Order: sequence, then C-alpha cells, then structure tokens
Amino acid sequence: MIIEPRMRGFICLTSHPKGCEQSVINQINYVKSKGAIDGPKKVLVIGASTGFGLASRITSAFGSNAATIGVFFEKAPAAGKTASPGYYNSLAFHTQAEKAGLYAKSINGDAFSNEVKKQTIDLIKADLGQVDLVIYSLASPVRQHPVTGVLHRSVLKPIGDTFSDKTVDFHTGIVSEVTITPCSDEDIANTVQVMGGEDWKMWTDALLNAGVLAEGAMTVAYSYIGPDVTEPVYRKGTIGMAKEHLEATAFEITEDLAKIGGKAFVSVNKALVTQASSAIPVIPLYISLLYKIMKAKGSHEGCIEQIQRLYSERLYTNGGIPVDEKGRIRIDDWEMDEAVQKEVAELWKGATTENLPTIGDLNGYKSDFLNLFGFGFEGVDYAAEANEMVEIPGLI
Ligand code: NAD
Ligand code: NA
Repeated sequence: MIIEPRMRGFICLTSHPKGCEQSVINQINYVKSKGAIDGPKKVLVIGASTGFGLASRITSAFGSNAATIGVFFEKAPAAGKTASPGYYNSLAFHTQAEKAGLYAKSINGDAFSNEVKKQTIDLIKADLGQVDLVIYSLASPVRQHPVTGVLHRSVLKPIGDTFSDKTVDFHTGIVSEVTITPCSDEDIANTVQVMGGEDWKMWTDALLNAGVLAEGAMTVAYSYIGPDVTEPVYRKGTIGMAKEHLEATAFEITEDLAKIGGKAFVSVNKALVTQASSAIPVIPLYISLLYKIMKAKGSHEGCIEQIQRLYSERLYTNGGIPVDEKGRIRIDDWEMDEAVQKEVAELWKGATTENLPTIGDLNGYKSDFLNLFGFGFEGVDYAAEANEMVEIPGLI
C-alpha cells in the first residue's frame, strides 16, 4: 500500500518500511565513515530497535564487527496495518548485518519479564557463549513487575510544587503555557519501578548467574540531566527520581560484576527527538531552541553521532573511561556547554508562537519526528507502493 504519516497526538500511527530501512542504512554509513573502533565483540542490546539502543546496536556491529542480540517490544505488521517503526528498523538491521556477514538475532517481547530474560540467556548460550557488552536502553511507560505481577505506570510530573512554563505543540508550532500539578508519593514509586535501575540489575544478575557474561564484561545504561528550564519536570521530577535510582544501581551492579572484573556505567546522553522524549512536556520547546544553537555552532548530534562518540571516545579508548564526579560518563557535554545553555535560557524567555520558527529549529524537530517513523528520507519514493507485511526472519 501507499503509506503516509498519520498523526495522533504525540505519536504517528503509521511507519514506512523503506524509510526505516533508509534510516538504518544512513546510520550504518555514518558509523562506517568514522572508521573502525576496537570495541566489543559480542553484544546484547536491551531496547535495540529505536533511538539510542538502535544506535548502540549499529555502532557495535558496523563500528566494531560485533555479533549482536537485540531485545525490543515492537508491533509486527498486520493486514493493512504497518508495523511499529522499531520493527522495520530491526528488519533493516538484520538485512544489513547478514549482508556484512555479521551475526544478528532478536527477541521481540517484554524485557521486564523473566521469560524474555530466560530466552535471551538461552540464545546467548546456544549461539555466542558469552557477551562482553550489555547496553540497557529501555524507555517504557509501563512495567509489569515479574515478582509481584503489579503493573506500574510511570508519570512525568513535578514533585512538591505545581509547575507552569512554556511548551510547544510541535505539530502546530503553537507555544503555550502548560501547568502540571505535583505527583503523589505512589507516582514517584511507580516511576522508579518502571524507569529506575531494578530491572537493569535483574538482567545483570540473571546474566551473571547464568555464566553468560565474559571476563571484564561491561554494561551501560542511559540517563539524562538537562537544563534548569526542564529541571522541575525532568531531573527533579518523577522521572529524575528514576534516573537517580538508575545511576545508583550502576554502583551495585559494579560490585556484583567484581568477580568477573566487570563494570557498570551510566552514560548521560544529549536531549534528542525520540518517541520517548516527544511525550514529555516542555522538552520539545527546549529541543527546538537547543537544535538551532547547536546546529549553528556545528556541535549538533543525533543518536548515532552520540553513540559513535560514546564508543570511540569514552568506552573503547586505550586509556581509562572518563567519568564525572558522580561516576557518570558524559556525552551531553556539548549540550551542557555553558555558552550553549546561556543562549537557550535567553531565547527561552522571549519564545512565542510567532518567533519560534526563526529563533528555534521547529522544522528540524518536525523532520526528526517524521524520521522516527521512516518518513521524510531522501532516496525513498513515498508515492510508490510499499509492502508493509515484510517480516523479520528468525525473530524470537
Ligand atoms: P526509544 O523510545 O527510542 O527506545 C526505547 C526502546 O525500548 C525500544 O527499542 C523499545 O522497543 C524498547 N522497549 C520499550 N519497552 C520495552 C519492553 N517492555 N520490553 C522490551 N523492550 C522495550 O527511547 P530512547 O529515547 O532511545 O531512550 C532510551 C534510553 O535513553 C532511556 O533510558 C532514556 O531515558 C535515555 N535517554 C534519552 C534521551 C532523549 O532525549 N531521548 C536523552 C538521554 C537519555
Ligand atoms: Na533505545
């Protein structure tokens, strides 16, 4: 069928298989253009189908010739209904990996469950023996706890005080005031359950106990800090409490991994347009101002540039891994640059519906958003019939 974007709220209901393929190919070409990384050889990526996780899988495979196992939760296509973009991305990844002679297998299911952890361990045992890198890149609004069975929902709310500030509806470009009432105590606990470190530790415990982590294996999870303007809803809000928990868990996991000489790290990444970040109030306005400034400075990066730099300049250099005073890897350094942040703060004060198209990169935001679903890529004929029913061979 001919596939067009169909927007509803913060999501797009359709995705384009050819466009997702182009997106993956572009990312592969970028990684190849940067040269070989003396990096990981056998990699498990949890949350491997979109955003930072997909970029991690691509960098592992095409930057470092690694065999990869990907875990994700994506919708397969059905008659007349496209798959979710992560499904088509993963199909394209498998196709390109096979062409390049690289091992790639994927598991589509709930990473929070015991069953998917077991399936993953069985697959590692059968095919790879052990892995030397585990990337943890889940972003989910819900988690069913594998022990209690409780379904936890994360919320994006401030803690303590009502928050009011500007936001933009990036579809219409309208800048308005948003007010978010503070969360309850259960909201904090639930958000920590979903996006905190417990599941990351459950994964590493299970992998370690099964003997499928190689000597010296590393695991890396992703976090975010961001500027003052987003602090009440992000870093000091419910999601920030989950990120604090995730960051603290890195130290616990490092202790667990001591017996194999392994280590856990959190990498703080840059604000980027992904399905997860588009749903957070205030962030799209911040991102559109940030993009404008970073693009003008030449320091703008997408997920693939971020992760390629994480591997080549942080994780796999000949020296040690540089971390901040809290033990975190920082690849948000160019975002958090003082001059960049000062400019964002100034533009923020004066931002209106009328001037945002000039002072911010609203078009860049919109085009990145469409790209997430495989739309807007050069070299793809969107007027042509596309086969939405393509399937990932061997998907578990
Ligand atoms: P994303 O939405 O693009 O990717 C989420 C991934 O998780 C997908 O592969 C999805 O299939 C998978 N997933 C979700 N629920 C799952 C489940 N139950 N079982 C298995 N897989 C599941 O998100 P992203 O923006 O790449 O976020 C990844 C991490 O990076 C998150 O921890 C996020 O907080 C962090 N981060 C994001 C930003 C940003 O601006 N986007 C910045 C810094 C850090
Ligand atoms: Na991801």
